[in-house]
Formats: sequence, C-alpha cells, structure tokens
Amino acid sequence: MSEKLHLLVLFGGRSGEHEVSLMSARAVLGALNPDRYEVIQVGITKAGQWLTGPNALEAFAAGETGDLLSVTLLPDPVRRGLWLLTDEGGLRPYAPVDMVFPVLHGTFGEDGTLQGLLELADMAYVGAGVVGSAVGMDKGIFKDVMRARGFPLAAYGVFSRREVEADVEDVADRCEQIAPYPLFVKPANLGSSVGITKAHDRAELVAALRLAARYDRRLVVEQGLNAREIEVSVLGNEEPRASLPGEIVPGQEFYSYEAKYEDESSRLFIPALLSPEDMEKVRALAVEIYKAVDCAGMARVDFLLNRDDGVFYINEVNTLPGFTQISMYPKLWEASGLPYTELLDKLVDLALKRKADRDRTRWER
Ligand SMILES: Nc1ncnc2c1ncn2[C@@H]1O[C@H](COP(=O)(O)OP(=O)(O)O)[C@@H](O)[C@H]1O
Ligand SMILES: [Mg+2]
Repeated sequence: MSEKLHLLVLFGGRSGEHEVSLMSARAVLGALNPDRYEVIQVGITKAGQWLTGPNALEAFAAGETGDLLSVTLLPDPVRRGLWLLTDEGGLRPYAPVDMVFPVLHGTFGEDGTLQGLLELADMAYVGAGVVGSAVGMDKGIFKDVMRARGFPLAAYGVFSRREVEADVEDVADRCEQIAPYPLFVKPANLGSSVGITKAHDRAELVAALRLAARYDRRLVVEQGLNAREIEVSVLGNEEPRASLPGEIVPGQEFYSYEAKYEDESSRLFIPALLSPEDMEKVRALAVEIYKAVDCAGMARVDFLLNRDDGVFYINEVNTLPGFTQISMYPKLWEASGLPYTELLDKLVDLALKRKADRDRTRWER
C-alpha cells in the first residue's frame, strides 16, 4: 500500500483556454514531488471527453490521443475514484483518487461547473468552491458583488445578448451613458481576453457588442481607464496571505490574447514599482476581495491602477490563474519566498484542510 496521495491532475478542457491549460499542466506535472504524490493524468478533450494514460499530457500536446483510455468520475460519493469506460459500455474501477487538481482555465473548469461535480462526488480539490469560482468567472456578477461591498470599480453596465440582437443601437446609446470613450466590451464569462474589444467610437462599439454577444449571453461594458495593471497572488482559505504585487506592461494597446500568448512584447515587473504604502494598500485590498467572493486555495486578484487619480480599481479575480513556471501567479510567490514546488504542496494542504472543514458541516436537521 502506498502512502502517497493519489492526485488526479485535470487539464485541457472545453474552453478556449485549452492550450493554455496544457502549458500550465506541463509545469505542474513537472514539479509535483514524486515522493509525496501518485499522479494520475487526465486530459479533457475539446469535445469534453476525459482520457487518461501515463503520458496523457504529451499525447494531448501532440494531438495523438488515440491510445488513451476513456475514464470518468461519478457524482456518486459511494463510487469513489476514477472509473474506466469499457468498450462494452460498462464501468470498471480504474484508480483511487484522493484529490483533484483542476489545471483548467475558463469555462467548465474555472467557473464552478467542475467544482459542482467534485462537491457531489465528495472529493477534495484544489482551489475555490462552486460560488467563489462562479462569481470570479462572471465579470458582471463579480462587479455587482464588488459594488455592493464598496470596492472601487470602473463605471460599468451589464447587457444581454438578447438586447444586442433586438436593438444594438439602443444598447450602444445606453453604453455611451456609462462613460466617455474608450469603452471596454467583454463577454461576461470568458478569459484570456477572448472577445474583448477596446472601442474608441460608436462604430467600434457596435461591432464590439456584436462580437462579445457571440461569446456569451451576458456582456459587460465598462469605462476604459488609463491604468497600470497590477496583480496580486493570494493563497489560503480562511486566513489568506497576499504576495508582493506584480505589474504587467502589455506590448499592445491593451493586454489582448495576442499580447498574452502570441508575441513577446509584454513585460512583467516583479515586484511592481510601487511606493511602500501602495504595496500594502493593494495587498490588503486583494485579501479583502478574496474573502468577499469566498475564494479558497488560490486566486490572482487583478487591479487597474488609474494614472489619473492614483486609485486601485478592481478588475477581476482569477481562481485558476495561469500556472506555468513563468506565469504571474507562481512568479509572485517565488519573489515572496515560496518556490513553485512548495506552492503546489501548500495548495494540496489547503485543499485537504478545506475538505476537512466542509466535512464538519451538517447537511440534515
Ligand atoms: N476598464 C478597463 N480599462 C483599461 N483597460 C482594461 C479595462 N478592462 C480591461 N482592460 C484591458 O483588457 C485586458 C483584459 O481584460 P480582463 O477583464 O482582464 O479580461 P480577461 O479575463 O480576458 O483577462 C486587461 O488585462 C487590460 O489590459
Ligand atoms: Mg485579465
């Protein structure tokens, strides 16, 4: 009997950030301590199929998944572990699982849906629960929560696809009431800047609304700030800690998909060049925001430091942030004295603690 923790690492997924997830997973798998973990690799295809094999990640990266085995987790907590789907259409126990580490970004991984399955299965998992994940994912609901708590936010409005399809000019009129151009138009539930436009005039606004409506039922339109992008890594459950802040200087007009992944022009500054007072201010704010949306394990809290008034406006929370060795989240911890491998151990410990805490909750009368 092995004493190791059976850790299922999930990657890929149905979202537009499938490839980003593979990059994060490569770093995680390369750094997990083999003395402590028995790692099971499970990739999720773009169609949503769960596939396993000892080198599933490499198979996914090469696009050669033909030899992998179909597996699934059941929502039934009595039937724990990973199950093999046999060719005859049956189920066979495949491997024990003590914990899931979802190295998935965006829809169906970071948005509470997977977390719902794991809750039903009574499984320990890394990162935020259903509510923290869902609120962190939906930029509209997230802003409503931030506004209710009085955190500083750029002026914004939330619109529906139906409204855009019915009368885009009317929606554009209402957007123009929010703030002067430029306006940012975003699908509420995407990441990696997909579907996001910085609109400088009416014609760009109308096109941006139509574009964003292709990606989501709900859209967020907000005041474009002349801002520096400051990010803070937060780690913990009930008593989270904040890392040193970092800064991103996008190589393009804003931090678009291309600037994030396709060109080399963007730069990270770790730590961010801020006064000691601003450092402390933004770290404390990050922890408050983390708690306000009931995050757990980890999240990266992103701010827009407005050059015009010096205020840190909250932009968004990422509950499963990019996790390559050169990604902001782990880099900030490294700069704060927590190396990558220890960060992974810490996340596993936090997931175990959170599960133990949830196990104390009574469900029935
Ligand atoms: N209100 C804003 N003012 C200025 N820049 C913004 C604003 N909102 C977004 N941006 C720019 O767009 C990028 C992507 O927006 P963000 O809301 O972070 O979406 P994603 O979830 O895709 O990262 C930001 O990193 C920033 O460069
Ligand atoms: Mg962002």
